[in-house]
Amino acid sequence: MRIDVLTILPKLLEGPFNDSILKRAQEKGLAEIHIHNIRDYSTHKQKSVDDYQYGGGAGMVMTIQPIADCIEKLKSERQYDEIIYMTPDGELLNQHICNQLSLKGNLIILCGHYKGVDQRIRDMFITREISIGSYVLSGGELGAAVLVDAVVRLLPGVLSDETSALTDSFQDNLLAPPVYTRPEDYKGHKVPDILMSGHTEKIEQWRQEQSLKRTQERRPDLLD
Ligand code: ADE
Repeated sequence: MRIDVLTILPKLLEGPFNDSILKRAQEKGLAEIHIHNIRDYSTHKQKSVDDYQYGGGAGMVMTIQPIADCIEKLKSERQYDEIIYMTPDGELLNQHICNQLSLKGNLIILCGHYKGVDQRIRDMFITREISIGSYVLSGGELGAAVLVDAVVRLLPGVLSDETSALTDSFQDNLLAPPVYTRPEDYKGHKVPDILMSGHTEKIEQWRQEQSLKRTQERRPDLLD
């Protein structure tokens, strides 16, 4: 999978994309992540990427030219399955969307700033708009980092334990059960006996019950 991320703050994304699972996925050749600085595409003499909004009002709007030129260049080099705009008014990200996107080949992710991008960018190029939650971030970069992480970890071969993405919370619309490791007894707080019993089937049944209980208590909306 190839992901091209368009941003005015490339440094904000270098950290998350070059560490841990995302770093390993790229080293293994399973994901290619390219960051593009929108400012590099500006033909304006001061390399500006924003302007006042028509109709008045506070806040700047990201201009069409540098974003359009960057997207056009990428599109001339390969076909893209989705061109995603990170925005608080997009569809709310969930595991189902991450699963869908993990099956795609090439993605562009555009990060907005200020009041957002000129609507014509959205009309002309964007195929999907995604929000990571009902709150407003300073820009789309942190949302893009969340999206890329959640998608890339699903690619076959990225996680060392092949089954672990399948037992994540949300993968079957249930939250994950509690987990324990050594020591068996920490200051009187003991690991549940069932996990020490060696009964594989009973352990599996306990985990499913715990998943259901957690989901009913914390996220009943997932069971609807
Ligand atoms: N940009 C600003 N807020 C955002 C959000 N909640 N999700 C995605 N992109 C954003």
